[in-house]
Amino acid sequence: MCGIVGYIGPKLADAVLLFGLYRLEYRGYDSAGIAVIDDGEIEIRKDTGKIRNLERLLKEHPVEGNVGIGHTRWATHGAPTSVNAHPHADASKSIAVVHNGIIENYDQIRKDLQSKNFLFVSDTDTEVIPQLLKSNNFSKDEEYDIFKTTISKLEGRFAFLILVEDKPDRVFFCRNGSPLVYGRSENEGFLVSDSSAFIASVKEQYFVKDGEWGWITREGIVLFDKDGNRKEPELIEVDHDLTQYEKNGYEHFMLKEIFEQPTVVRNILDKRIGANNLINFSELTMSKDFQAKLFRIVFTSAGTSLHAAMIGKLYIEKFAKIMTEVEFSSEFRYRNPILEGDTLVIAISQSGETADTLASIHSAKAKFLKVLSFVNQINSSISRESTAAANLFAGTEIGVASTKAYVAELVSLLLYSLHLAKLKWILTDEEISVILEEVKKLPKQIEQILEKADSIKEIAYTMRDKRDFIFLGRSYEHPTALEGALKLKEISYAHASGYAGGEFKHGPIALVSKDVPVICITPKSEVYTKMVSNLEEVRARNGIIFSIHTEGDESVPALSNYSFAIPDCSEYITPILSVIPLQLFAYYVAIAKGCEPDQPRNLAKSVTVE
Ligand code: M6R
Repeated sequence: MCGIVGYIGPKLADAVLLFGLYRLEYRGYDSAGIAVIDDGEIEIRKDTGKIRNLERLLKEHPVEGNVGIGHTRWATHGAPTSVNAHPHADASKSIAVVHNGIIENYDQIRKDLQSKNFLFVSDTDTEVIPQLLKSNNFSKDEEYDIFKTTISKLEGRFAFLILVEDKPDRVFFCRNGSPLVYGRSENEGFLVSDSSAFIASVKEQYFVKDGEWGWITREGIVLFDKDGNRKEPELIEVDHDLTQYEKNGYEHFMLKEIFEQPTVVRNILDKRIGANNLINFSELTMSKDFQAKLFRIVFTSAGTSLHAAMIGKLYIEKFAKIMTEVEFSSEFRYRNPILEGDTLVIAISQSGETADTLASIHSAKAKFLKVLSFVNQINSSISRESTAAANLFAGTEIGVASTKAYVAELVSLLLYSLHLAKLKWILTDEEISVILEEVKKLPKQIEQILEKADSIKEIAYTMRDKRDFIFLGRSYEHPTALEGALKLKEISYAHASGYAGGEFKHGPIALVSKDVPVICITPKSEVYTKMVSNLEEVRARNGIIFSIHTEGDESVPALSNYSFAIPDCSEYITPILSVIPLQLFAYYVAIAKGCEPDQPRNLAKSVTVE
């Protein structure tokens, strides 16, 4: 999604803005630009494609100034052209704007302004903002009233920054739904989509809340709530763990993050399992009594986080015996679901900013339900707006294709289901301890899988020309099949579909041919023999099989063209292990095809628009 950066201070703004934009690259974008007040005038530079194109443009046509705004655009309204790239300005170039989100009533505003002879040059919704401000005489008059009146006319979810030629001592901002963070350092101020874009000197930050607006100066922030009341921001410390933003010798962030998974799981276990194997979710601001009485749980999430929720449902039903459902957040928010009684809504999100998931939280809360969120970005909108939030402890995830956050989601949900099982007196401490001893083997087991990454690479290279793939799994491995297929299509652009093994003969089997590899996730489990039947069916039709099996099993490899062993473990542990070779498979197919796995086309890391 679009990334925004604003700066005011003693440094050269173009360098600070470029640094921030590079840091926001991972969000996904198709053009980039900056605006700087240079010698009293707003200068705009923008181009399509990568930020290095913008950097080149700045070398050819430099700008010099100490206040500016920057943007990476992920196209929604209008093609990814340089005219549609941000910043956008009014005709006299006295007001420039960068914006993340959507102005839903832009068409009406645009028509009104056109009837007053305002000329529009782009196809974007954003352009109405500087034009509307200009029509309200913003650059001449008192900022407070004009700004407040103008933003009250905008509908939708957005965060934007404004540079005004006549007011070079400030950068204006407004947030309504899209993320925005203010950062402070001595004699300088920053406004960014997420804290990764701060330079190292920024030590304090404030997460701007919905409806808030104002401006920053070198000295600080002037902040108002939506009714125009002045507020004091509560600044908190910035965590500058720079290793998260470096590839540390890996070719891509995605590969680095796949290899970080043993550490991530160790970290979660350290945080969540205390002495005597007692599971700790003590940070949840939700009474134990309420959790013990739960009758129903509804998961809401999207993409990879939805697949984690599907496994979370199996964990909660198995261990805590609570009726559980899984909803696409994009459907949940619009279908007015029946939510009542002792029901808990659980939102899962890596970014904590997914617009659909956030909207489902709003609809659940409107029905007076409690919402628990599992989020990786703990300072995000989703965690703030939930009744209680649990940290996934995966560390910053940069690769657009989610890997380590998924494994963190699975481990966290397994532990949470055990926590509920204890609160409901379904499992004793001793029974939970037995399960936890197995969970503790995970980091080592994941390492064993990663040590064999080269064999996955070889398999991936043999399949690089295939255009279609089928992924099959049952029970705990059905969501793994969906996740394996999602990873592959996201970064290699091959068509891939995941199915529950039992559904295969109801249609997808028609696709089997030597050109359509079938990836069968077949570890030892209660449905093992059923999956073996799927393998037989594919083999009988001369299909190509790549299977994931349990170490020591000889039957599945004998039926497969290619196979990969994961360590022997209980059935509920297998999805945490079996997904690792599939992440590697997707990565290596993408590399073999010459794709860029960290920035797949059309995708954004956090989907902050509908
Ligand atoms: O940040 P979230 O977990 O809420 O994101 C949900 C999906 O957008 C995300 O999982 C997406 O599907 C990833 N690109 C998957 O790799």
